Amino acid sequence: MLEYDKRMEELNYEIVVANFNFNTNITAENQAYLVSLVVFLFVSLLKIICLFSVFKLDVTKKLNREQKEIWKKAIRYDYKHFEDPLLRRLFEKISVLGIPALDEEDSVLFTSITTELSKTYDQASICLAGKCGLDLDPDLYRLMAHSRDYEELKEIWIKWREQAGRPNRQRYIDYIRLGNKAAIANGFQTLDDLWLFPWETPDFKQQVETIWEELKPYYQKLHAYVRMRLREFYGSERMPEDGTIPAHILGNMWSQSWGNIYDLVAPYPNRKSLDVTETMIAQNYTAMDMFRLSEKFFTDLALIPMPESFWRYSMFTKPTDRKVACHATAWDFYNRKDFRVKMCTSVTMKDLITVHHEMGHIQYYLQYKDQPVAFREGANPGFHEAVGDLLALSVSTPNHLKKINLLSSENDSLAYDPEIMLNYQLKMALDKLAFLPFGYLMDAYRWDLFSGKVSAAKMNEHWWWYRINYQGISPPIIRNETDFDAGAKFHIPAGVEYIRYFVSFIIQFQFHKSLCNIAQPNIPLYQCDIDGNHEAGEHLAKMLRLGSSVRWPEAMKLMTGAETMSAQPLIEYFGPLFQWLDEQIVNETIGWRANISDYIAVASS
Ligand SMILES: *[C@@H]1O[C@H](CO)[C@@H](O)[C@H](O)[C@H]1NC(C)=O
Ligand SMILES: *[C@@H]1O[C@H](CO)[C@@H](O)[C@H](O)[C@H]1NC(C)=O
Ligand SMILES: *[C@@H]1O[C@H](CO)[C@@H](O)[C@H](O)[C@H]1NC(C)=O
Ligand SMILES: *[C@@H]1O[C@H](CO)[C@@H](O)[C@H](O)[C@H]1NC(C)=O
Ligand SMILES: *[C@@H]1O[C@H](CO)[C@@H](O)[C@H](O)[C@H]1NC(C)=O
Ligand SMILES: *[C@@H]1O[C@H](CO)[C@@H](O)[C@H](O)[C@H]1NC(C)=O
Ligand SMILES: [Zn+2]
Repeated sequence: MLEYDKRMEELNYEIVVANFNFNTNITAENQAYLVSLVVFLFVSLLKIICLFSVFKLDVTKKLNREQKEIWKKAIRYDYKHFEDPLLRRLFEKISVLGIPALDEEDSVLFTSITTELSKTYDQASICLAGKCGLDLDPDLYRLMAHSRDYEELKEIWIKWREQAGRPNRQRYIDYIRLGNKAAIANGFQTLDDLWLFPWETPDFKQQVETIWEELKPYYQKLHAYVRMRLREFYGSERMPEDGTIPAHILGNMWSQSWGNIYDLVAPYPNRKSLDVTETMIAQNYTAMDMFRLSEKFFTDLALIPMPESFWRYSMFTKPTDRKVACHATAWDFYNRKDFRVKMCTSVTMKDLITVHHEMGHIQYYLQYKDQPVAFREGANPGFHEAVGDLLALSVSTPNHLKKINLLSSENDSLAYDPEIMLNYQLKMALDKLAFLPFGYLMDAYRWDLFSGKVSAAKMNEHWWWYRINYQGISPPIIRNETDFDAGAKFHIPAGVEYIRYFVSFIIQFQFHKSLCNIAQPNIPLYQCDIDGNHEAGEHLAKMLRLGSSVRWPEAMKLMTGAETMSAQPLIEYFGPLFQWLDEQIVNETIGWRANISDYIAVASS
C-alpha cells in the first residue's frame, strides 16, 4: 500500500501537470501529450475538455495500463476481512476502478462515444436574427440573463436544444449501455450504483428524496412569488394556466438558478443593490485583489495561507495570447506542494463568490495533503463543494460587505434595516433555494435511466416529468421523443455527476450553523459572519484534515454533532423571507397542477 501511494503521487502529478498545461494553453501539441498519457482515467476527477476533434484512440496508454495492473493486484487481496480499519478502507477505495475496467474494445468505443457527446455539446452554436455562430458562453448566457423579450428568449431556448441536445440522443443511449457494462466490470449491477459508490450510504437516494420532500413547501413559496411577479411583467396570457412557469423566462438556459431576474422580483427595488460589482469597479479591484481578499478571509480564520506556487503558477485571468478553457477550477497536483486555480476572473460580485468557492477547494487540498492519496478527497463530493460556499455565506452578508468597504451606509449596522435584509434574503434564495430541485433532478433522472427504471423510448418524457413535478416549470413549446432536452445541459453529455451540488447546498447551511454557534451564537443565521474567529476556523480545519479517511457521517458528526444531512439550517436561514413571502402570496395558488401530456407528445409505439 505504501508503494502504491508513492506511485500514485507520481502518476497523478504527471497527469495533472499535462492536464493543467492543456487547459491553460489549448494547442494540438499539448492535447496530444495529454492524450498520450491518459484517455479517461479519473474522468470524474479531472475533466479533460476536448476542443479538438482528432483523438487517437490508443488505450495501451502507459498510465492507463499501469493503473489497471495496480487495481487487478489490489482486488486479489481479501481486504474485506482485514483487521486494520484504515488499511481496509484504503483497499476499499482503490477497489473500484471505474470505466477503465472495461475490456479494450469497449474502452475504445466508450471513449469515442463520450468524445462525440462532448464535442457535439461544445461545438453547438445557434443563429439569431440573421447572426450565426452564437456560442453558449458568453453569447447565450448573456441573452438569457438580460433579455426580457419573451419571444426572443423562447427562440434561443428552442434553438439551443435543437443544436446541443437532439443530435446526442442515440449516442446517449449507447453511453448508458456501455456505462452499465463498466459498472458490471467493477462488481456493480448498474451505472447508478457505480456513481453512488463514493457516497458510502446504501440508502443515499432515499436520503436526498427525504430532504427534498422537506424543502418542497418552501420552494413552492418562492415559486409562487416569482410566478406572480413574472405574470405582472409578462402578462397573464403568457403564463400557463396550470401554474407552471415557462422555462425560458427565469434568466438561465436551464432555469437552474434565478439570480439574473432579481430586478424583476426584488422586494424593494429602489433600495441599495446588494450586488457590489459597481463598487468593486469604482475601487479599481483587480482579479488578484479578489484572490487576496479571499485568502485573507481564510487566514483570518487561522486556516492555511496559499503557497508561493499558487500565486506564481495559477491562471487568474483570461490570457490574450492563447486559447484556454475558462470554466473555473481548482487543482491539486498531488505532490503536497503545488496547488493552483484556473479562472477567467472578471471583476464582479458573482466572480468574487466563485473565487471563494475555488479557494475552498484549495483549502481542502491543503488541509488533507498529508493523507494517503486514496483519502485526498472530500468526506463526500458534496463536502468538497461546500467549503468555499460556506465562507461566502459570511462574506456576502451586508454587514461584512460594509466592513470591507464594498457597501456604504450611514448606519453602523445594516442588520436593522428590514428592507435591505429582505432584498438580501431574496437574492440568496434565487441562487440557493431555486437551485435545489434542479440540483436533485439532474442525477435522479440519470439514476432512473441507468437502472432501467425508465426505458430509452421515454427519455425526454421522463426528463420533463422531473422538470414539471420538481421545478414547476414547463417548456415553451411541445416536446417529443426526437428531442433530448437533458442533453442540452453540460453535465449530461460530459458524464459529470451533479448530486454533489444538491448536497453541498444543503450541508453548507448545516456547516454555517455550527460555525456560527461558535462565532456569533446570538445573531440570526442569515446575518452571521464568522470572519476572524479562530475557534470556528479550527473546528472547520479539524474536519477538512480528515479527507475521506472516515465515512462522511463521521465527518458530519464532528462538524455538526449529528451524522445526517438536515434541511433545518437552510429553513432557519431563510426564515424571515418565508414569513414575508407568505404575506405576498396570500392571493396566489401555491404549487401547480400540470398534465405532462400537454407538454410532450407521447412516444408512438
Ligand atoms: C503553449 O504550448 C506550446 C506548445 O504547444 C508552447 O510552445 C508554448 O510556449 C505554450 N505557451 C505558454 C504561454 O505556456
Ligand atoms: C481608480 O483609478 C482611477 C484612474 O486611474 C483613479 O482616478 C482613482 O482615484 C482610482 N480609485 C481608487 C479608489 O483608487
Ligand atoms: C438607521 O438605523 C435606525 C435604527 O437604528 C433606523 O431607524 C433607520 O431607519 C436606519 N436608517 C437607514 C437609512 O437604514
Ligand atoms: C418532434 O417535433 C419536431 C418539431 O419540434 C417535429 O419536426 C418532429 O416531426 C416531431 N417528431 C415526432 C416523432 O413527432
Ligand atoms: C389579495 O386580494 C385582496 C382582495 O382582492 C386584496 O385586497 C389584497 O390587497 C390582496 N393582497 C395582496 C398581497 O395582493
Ligand atoms: C391529461 O391529458 C390527457 C390528454 O388530454 C387526458 O387523457 C388525461 O386524462 C389527462 N390526465 C389528467 C390526470 O388530467
Ligand atoms: Zn467546485
